[in-house]
Amino acid sequence: MTLSLKSIGSWSVLSLMIMQFIPLNRINPPVVSDVQTPYSIKNSLKKACYDCHSNETGWPGIAYLAPISWLVSSTVSTGRNVVNFSTWNNEKRELKQAEIIRVIGEGPLHQRFYYIFNPEKQLELQERKIMTKWFSEQSHEQSPHIKNSGSNRQDKTL
Ligand code: HEC
Repeated sequence: MTLSLKSIGSWSVLSLMIMQFIPLNRINPPVVSDVQTPYSIKNSLKKACYDCHSNETGWPGIAYLAPISWLVSSTVSTGRNVVNFSTWNNEKRELKQAEIIRVIGEGPLHQRFYYIFNPEKQLELQERKIMTKWFSEQSHEQSPHIKNSGSNRQDKTL
């Protein structure tokens, strides 16, 4: 069988059409315990992080078109698995805060493509400074048991 351009074309169209019927997990589960932050920090988090790290994902139109939708949906579920600001009370906060600070420091290098296609979602330098400060203060205030335990040096450095 010789594959002409025309037959490749029609097979591609057919496969793209079939792909659209594969169901995907594009739901926003209920917000259980949203992270408590001052208003300005919440705004920055919502703008730059919530699409992948919360149950309040703003699904873009492209998220409905396979195969791109597969990529979007798997990025969101991986993102939610590592950090979810909508279930913040169940997260291992002490461990995550340090990583969040590091990711904020990376700026748009974290999830580069997302920020290239959504430049309005990028954090300003000033926002990054405020967020970093807030998250580093949280590590001290919200984990007194670690500060007082005195035994676990690794935890103390967080
Ligand atoms: C486009 C989706 C997306 C956005 C937007 C996004 N992340 Fe992520 N993030 C992910 C994914 C996927 C992972 C897990 C795998 C990886 O690192 O690529 C991740 C991992 C992380 C991790 C775990 C450490 C690491 O580097 O793997 C932290 C912390 C994190 N993100 C924080 C943030 C913060 C804070 C923001 C907002 C400034 C943000 N993310 C924005 C998708 C996203």
